Amino acid sequence: MRIVVTRPLPSGGLHLLNGHEIVQHEFSVGGPDEDQLIDIAQGADALITLLSDPVTERVLRACPGIKVVAQYAVGYDNIDLAAARASGVVVTNTPGVLTEATADMAFALLLAAARNVAPADRYVRAGEFSRWEADLLLGSDLSGGTIGIVGLGRIGAAVARRAIGFGMRVCYHNRSPANPSVEQKLGARLVSMNTLLETSDVVSLHCSLNASSRGLIGREALARMKPSAILVNTARGAVVDEEALVDALRSRAIRAAGLDVFEDEPSVHPGLCDLDNVVMAPHLGSATHATRLRMAEMCAEAVQAVLSGARHIPYRVV
Ligand code: DGY
Repeated sequence: MRIVVTRPLPSGGLHLLNGHEIVQHEFSVGGPDEDQLIDIAQGADALITLLSDPVTERVLRACPGIKVVAQYAVGYDNIDLAAARASGVVVTNTPGVLTEATADMAFALLLAAARNVAPADRYVRAGEFSRWEADLLLGSDLSGGTIGIVGLGRIGAAVARRAIGFGMRVCYHNRSPANPSVEQKLGARLVSMNTLLETSDVVSLHCSLNASSRGLIGREALARMKPSAILVNTARGAVVDEEALVDALRSRAIRAAGLDVFEDEPSVHPGLCDLDNVVMAPHLGSATHATRLRMAEMCAEAVQAVLSGARHIPYRVV
């Protein structure tokens, strides 16, 4: 069977598929667009995709041999699930394995934003550190503050656990209440989105990208946040209206932001790069050696299960 992998994955991660023909692609700039994906997926029985690959109805129609799309990510907003369902294509993802790594990244960005780590690094490198000063690069305390988690799922809960360790209170907003035992363990209060925005010192986004979360943090939401608040986004860029965020950061309507994801990746709004109160990373949430290797193994397990006709398909979404 022919398995097309849209980008090189950690070596060893796909060894389970060794008996098959594995074709790993590389693109010098960006990833495949629809036409390129159709081109490379010709004759494929399985496709292993990254979060930027547009697995559209057109792609699935043009490649009727595909039996499974194994997404090398937990999010799958790049895949047309309805089209996959309609054409009998199995879709899988990599849940659970990247929870702690992504929560670490959210906290890394939060601490960096709260304590000016990126400007401080630039300051030292520029040779500007000439003496200790009482008012140099002052930040804000996390302890005693409130973190508002938008989307208290696996990753949101892992961030909440870290926040508790830093002496923070936790509130959250979900479409439906979290499991009472999770709420209890975290001491987390379910609040309306407006209350979360108005009362949180840190707003951390952990919802998936869908029609109702797209642009959720726009001008109105940002205007509700405290001027001292920090926004952290390790979910999906399009949950935030980047233009509105640039304006809010520039006018100090909010204090700072930590961003791992962007509205139109890999492009970054040029306004963000001019600001000192935002710290950014190139979508590194799951980027640890162990996590990325395990994600590849999970894709391989799912593909192997589908291609061998197993009854149970692990990590199945559709
Ligand atoms: C995901 O898995 O959805 C992350 O954004 C990348 O690992």
